[in-house]
Amino acid sequence: MFNVIKVKDYEEASDKAFEVMKDFIKPGKVLGLATGSTPIGLYQRMVKDHEENGTSYKEIKTFNLDEYVGLPISHPESYYAFMHRNLFDHIDIPEENTHVPSGLGEDLEAQAAAYDAMIAKDPVDIQLLGIGSDGHIAFNEPGTAFDSPTHVTDLAESTIKDNCRFFDNDISKVPTQAVTQGIGTIMKAKNILLIATGANKAQAVKDMINGPVDEACPASILQKHDNVTIIVDEAAASLL
Ligand code: F6R
Repeated sequence: MFNVIKVKDYEEASDKAFEVMKDFIKPGKVLGLATGSTPIGLYQRMVKDHEENGTSYKEIKTFNLDEYVGLPISHPESYYAFMHRNLFDHIDIPEENTHVPSGLGEDLEAQAAAYDAMIAKDPVDIQLLGIGSDGHIAFNEPGTAFDSPTHVTDLAESTIKDNCRFFDNDISKVPTQAVTQGIGTIMKAKNILLIATGANKAQAVKDMINGPVDEACPASILQKHDNVTIIVDEAAASLL
């Protein structure tokens, strides 16, 4: 069942997301984290809270959703670099407690299976999600099996176009593959917090909430999860 929280704009969405997340920033908790534009406001609030209130991440573990295939971690658009720049470098989390899937290596599928095994040992208490304009969650594009484990995937054309803005608006620079937690992996999280803002998410939000549970809209599977909070701004909620 969905708990849908409607807010005015991105700033209010980030405030509300922080309120939800705060309950999970406690010793022993496991946070599932995301990249992209959506969570940046939330991460800013987590950093501010750490700096002003001393909220500690020393005994927290994190697992990220995904990583581009083939980008070195030193590349500024790698999700490893994104997480360090926007969150990890500004809080007291030990590096060994943070996990971002690796998009480099000889056997990415074996590494993906090992990533799922790590998550199985430390189940995620709350998984933060954005949503793609095509309804993807993590990089599970339309048509991905609902029981998929962490795997290597091709990015949809629309996702490559959406992410072009991070690569000098040059489509040839956008990686075409990613390692992503599977939908099966994401569904094992105890709680899910999805944030959607902006008019380009309106159709995907409508399909996720009101549409059939269908692989054509990967996020629609969340209708089958027991604890999902969805924070939507006015623009993203405009078709509801
Ligand atoms: C990021 C991720 C993606 C994004 C989605 C929305 O780790 O898994 O599914 O959440 O593409 O991206 P933004 O937030 O940039 O609109």
